[in-house]
Amino acid sequence: MKDRRELNLLAEAGVILQRMADGGVLCTGVDREGAQNLLTLGWGQIGRSYHGNPMFSIAVAPPRYSWRFLEDVPEFVIAVPDDALRDAVHFCGTRSGRDFDDKFAAAGLTPVPSVHVRAPSVLECPINVECHIYARVAPPHELLTPEHRLSPLEEQHTIYFAEVLGTYGWED
Ligand SMILES: Cc1cc2nc3c(=O)[nH]c(=O)nc-3n(C[C@H](O)[C@H](O)[C@H](O)COP(=O)(O)O)c2cc1C
Repeated sequence: MKDRRELNLLAEAGVILQRMADGGVLCTGVDREGAQNLLTLGWGQIGRSYHGNPMFSIAVAPPRYSWRFLEDVPEFVIAVPDDALRDAVHFCGTRSGRDFDDKFAAAGLTPVPSVHVRAPSVLECPINVECHIYARVAPPHELLTPEHRLSPLEEQHTIYFAEVLGTYGWED
C-alpha cells in the first residue's frame, strides 16, 4: 500500500468544500460485523474545534443504506475525489449499497484500512479525512433547507457532528 502523508484539514478545507459543491465527496462507514459501504455527500461543514481537533459535520437521511452504518459504528471517512473519479462518485450518489454485495467494487474503488477509525479510507481518493462522531441531531431541526423539511419526518436527515482524528494524502 502507498505511504500516507499527514495533511492539515483546515488548509484543505477550500478544496473539500468546493468538491462537495461540485459532484460531491465520498463518505464511508462500517458496521459491527465489519461490512462496509459508502455514499456521496454534498452537505457538510468543516470547523473547529472539539478538544483541539477540527470538526466535520455531515447530514445523512435515514433511507440511505449508509445511515444504519453510522448509527451502528459512530465513525466515517470523508474521501475526497478528484476529477478522474467523477463517474464513481456519481455511481455512489445514485445507486444503493443495498443492491450490491460490494458497492466499492461496483464503483471501481478500493477500501483500505484507516489509521484511527474502523471505517475504511479510499485508495483512489487523494484526501481521506478520518472522523469520529460525538453527537447527532435528529429531526425536527431547522438546519437543512426548506425543501428537505418537506419530506416526512422519519426521512429527514440526521446531522452528525464528528471530531477529525486525522487527514491524510498519499506519498507520490
Ligand atoms: C451530488 C450528490 C450529493 C448528495 N448528498 C447527500 C447528502 O448530503 N446526504 C444524503 O443523505 N444523501 C446525499 N446524496 C444521496 C446519496 O448519495 C444516495 O442516495 C446514495 O445512493 C445512497 O447510497 P446508499 O444507499 O448505499 O447509502 C447525494 C447524492 C449526490 C449525487
